[in-house]
Amino acid sequence: MIVLGIETSCDETAASICSNRKILSNIVSSQYIHSNYGGVIPEIASREHEKYLNLIVKSAINESGLKLSNLEAIAVTQGPGLAGTLLTGISFAKGLSLGLNIPIIAINHLEAHIFANFLTESNLRFPFVCLLVSGGHTQLWHVKNINDYSLLGETLDDAAGEAFDKGARILDLGYPGGPEIEKAGRNGNPKAINFPRSPLGNNSLDFSFSGLKTSLLYFMEKNYKNGSFPIKDIASSYQEAIIDNLFIKLKRAVELTKTDRCVIAGGVAANTRLRTKLKNNLNIDLYFPNLRYCTDNAAMISFLGEMKLSEDINSELNFSVEPNLALI
Ligand code: KG4
Ligand code: ZN
Repeated sequence: MIVLGIETSCDETAASICSNRKILSNIVSSQYIHSNYGGVIPEIASREHEKYLNLIVKSAINESGLKLSNLEAIAVTQGPGLAGTLLTGISFAKGLSLGLNIPIIAINHLEAHIFANFLTESNLRFPFVCLLVSGGHTQLWHVKNINDYSLLGETLDDAAGEAFDKGARILDLGYPGGPEIEKAGRNGNPKAINFPRSPLGNNSLDFSFSGLKTSLLYFMEKNYKNGSFPIKDIASSYQEAIIDNLFIKLKRAVELTKTDRCVIAGGVAANTRLRTKLKNNLNIDLYFPNLRYCTDNAAMISFLGEMKLSEDINSELNFSVEPNLALI
């Protein structure tokens, strides 16, 4: 089946064509305009999608070597995400579905992030534990099969990506903060400053990052002006605290579920130090998506769309935007 995927949940305008579980094209346009503001401005994001979506969809079709008339279905992100930006993608997808008279399927962005791992490792088998770490979510899932998920733990406050983004703002680095902190801390000492790990007790599988962010803020107010720590050590130590938090909980989840297979999903999965730390300290099969499938993209949308359509799951045309859509 030939499926067009459309993703506009935040600040990436993306389109992709998937056919028989192969990605034929994957076009992502990131809205760098938000770096001027240190975070995504929803109104600007919607306008940018509106401006470029048509072009991005055309490029995805051209790059696949197919024609508009070859499309057999459309998959589009329904949520979670920003209401206005989601609406841009959904309205576009509905128009196309009506015009071409082909089915449409509403996709959960979180589920798509998890299934992006199948794009990199087609032999991945259920069940597995998934650490989902994005800009808006930090969750541990026990994935037993497609449509069979149980939540093991999640963040009680900020998401891991948000901790990177807010930390970068405090350190006066750019946006998005994850890659900026990673770059700034590359040759730094991760043990220079002992930022809090917030384990939330011995058995908890939940996360908390807001105290860590506050401790960075206090640290900067107290120490930075006298120049006693180079920025590379601060960035590296802060990154290490986020990663330790993730590692501690993932290890617990592995022990609890007795799983021997884990996948990491979402934008923070692109972090090199996270990858190294988990690989060196967890004696299980670990899967990370290819870098281009970690951060927001439409390949994961078209791929999951095709998977669902092959199970005869599709949507009525009157489905609505779900900014707070959960996985279960
Ligand atoms: O999955 P994603 O693209 O969008 C959401 O669904 O939220 O994740 C974006 C998040 C941002 O917070 C960004 O700072 C973080 O992923 N991120 C990273 C890296 N690349 C992106 N965090 C740490 N290290 C990275 N290399
Ligand atoms: Zn995402």
